[in-house]
Amino acid sequence: MRRPILAGNWKMNTCRESARALASALAEQVPASRDDVEVIVCPPAVYLETVLAAASGSGLQVGGQNSSDQEPGAFTGETACEMLTDLGCSSVIIGHSERRQFYGECDSVVNSKTKKALASGLKAIVCVGELLDQREAGKTKAVLESQMTGSLADLSVEDMANVVIAYEPVWAIGTGKVASNEQAEEAHACLRTWLEGRFNSDVAAATRILYGGSVKPDNAAGLLSQPNVDGALVGGASLKPELFIPIIDAGAATVA
Ligand code: PGA
Repeated sequence: MRRPILAGNWKMNTCRESARALASALAEQVPASRDDVEVIVCPPAVYLETVLAAASGSGLQVGGQNSSDQEPGAFTGETACEMLTDLGCSSVIIGHSERRQFYGECDSVVNSKTKKALASGLKAIVCVGELLDQREAGKTKAVLESQMTGSLADLSVEDMANVVIAYEPVWAIGTGKVASNEQAEEAHACLRTWLEGRFNSDVAAATRILYGGSVKPDNAAGLLSQPNVDGALVGGASLKPELFIPIIDAGAATVA
């Protein structure tokens, strides 16, 4: 049984006070004893410490939105994985489509960041997903396989214990256009088959594959109940407890 993960990607949103309030509201829903689902929030780096303090003593995990593939040193503006673990972060999002699109992160950069995150003891949430024109051209499977091949290059079976995949069709991110349950399931099944071919059936069976792209309370139950969908990476709806909590509940309902 794969334990669902509900992860909130706050992107470049919140201020110190709203970050603290949001984290406190979520921490109340996720006591340390909660073991049906994993809930992770990924605030802006400058608010990590505020959010970690609000989550302290609860089961709410905190992660970064991005991290460097380098050791600490002369890299202006970057955040080292060592700094994320030093603060108490459990995980980091790597290769989000906004990083790929606006900051030129290609699969080989995603790969070196993933390796560095794993070597530092972080769980890597590695994002893949096709553009609209790639889907329309019937290239979704080829795009996903090529992103997986590049992003997970050189990783071992052991490494995969700390890798989570997020399937985020780029056309569904922040657009309100959600993938249908069938489109999500088809892509997730394709990713799982790829994992089996590249690693083995145990890795394929154990790896959590999250769906991301306009997940909202009204579509969460349908998406999360697909057999190969093991959780969600949520942007906009993760900024409001009244939207994110029902999504957490929908994830929990799949294991009840
Ligand atoms: P969205 O973002 O839920 O606002 O579409 C998802 C993401 O980018 O991770």
